[in-house]
Amino acid sequence: MSGIGTDWLGLNGARVLIAGAGGLGGACARAFDSVGARVAVADRDPDHLAILSEGLNQDFLRVVADLTDPERAAAAVSEVAAAFGSVDVLVHAVGINVRKPVLDFGPDEWRRIQRVNLDSAFWLSQAAGRIMTRQGSGRIVIISSVSGLLAHANHAPYAATKGAINQMMRVVAREWAPYGVTVNAVAPGYIETELTKAYLDKDGHREALSEMVPAGRLGNPDELSGPVLFLASKQASFVTGHVLYVDGGRTLV
Ligand SMILES: NC(=O)c1ccc[n+]([C@@H]2O[C@H](COP(=O)([O-])OP(=O)(O)OC[C@H]3O[C@@H](n4cnc5c(N)ncnc54)[C@H](O)[C@@H]3O)[C@@H](O)[C@H]2O)c1
Repeated sequence: MSGIGTDWLGLNGARVLIAGAGGLGGACARAFDSVGARVAVADRDPDHLAILSEGLNQDFLRVVADLTDPERAAAAVSEVAAAFGSVDVLVHAVGINVRKPVLDFGPDEWRRIQRVNLDSAFWLSQAAGRIMTRQGSGRIVIISSVSGLLAHANHAPYAATKGAINQMMRVVAREWAPYGVTVNAVAPGYIETELTKAYLDKDGHREALSEMVPAGRLGNPDELSGPVLFLASKQASFVTGHVLYVDGGRTLV
């Protein structure tokens, strides 16, 4: 095994596209930036991209796009490849959730959650995969969730997208392994971001959910970015088709 050097992860100069400039995408952008990667971030919300620019050492490429649209997703990948010369790493950190019982969902809401969470992951992976399979290397890391495994109440459409992401990821990993492209998922438990804040702030939810985690607490975004960097690194070159739970032991109980 080689020693731990200054670029142990092999990510210095890597060309990274992060889809989603929210709490977890933002933490990943800062982490990749800190190891010398060239970072592009795509999000439909320019304000999220603007906030992110405060925490980075280097300037980053901003792509404002609704990534549910296949053509717009492919255009976002092309834009980054044109600016950086290629794309070595794709991180998918786009997602929405609506919490209510199955009986209360309508078709538009169901479809919107599928489009944002699942369609964007598929179309972005396909566009990045066209480049990565051709160049014979690449890393894709998709943010799934413990909801892809556990049957939380009031999460049906969200949980469906996360289960689907896990299985889609496994098929893509199998297809692209011969081309030197690894595809993995990271599945967090509750982490405090804009996606979860309002829910956690309500009626003792934070305390109740913390008690369900063997570690006795919720995660923070920086505890997610390390595992993402590992899976994107040269140290994970033989890891593919894996769902890595980052949940303080939540899925053990
Ligand atoms: N925070 C958690 O506790 C948690 C737990 C498990 C999984 N996750 C997953 O992690 C990922 C990131 O979540 P987060 O906590 O950072 O959420 P967040 O709400 O902070 O960020 C999500 C980002 O996605 C962007 N987005 C939404 N729709 C989009 C679209 N159509 N096109 C482009 N961008 C769009 C939003 O503008 C936002 O910046 C999601 O897939 C989420 O399901 C989060």
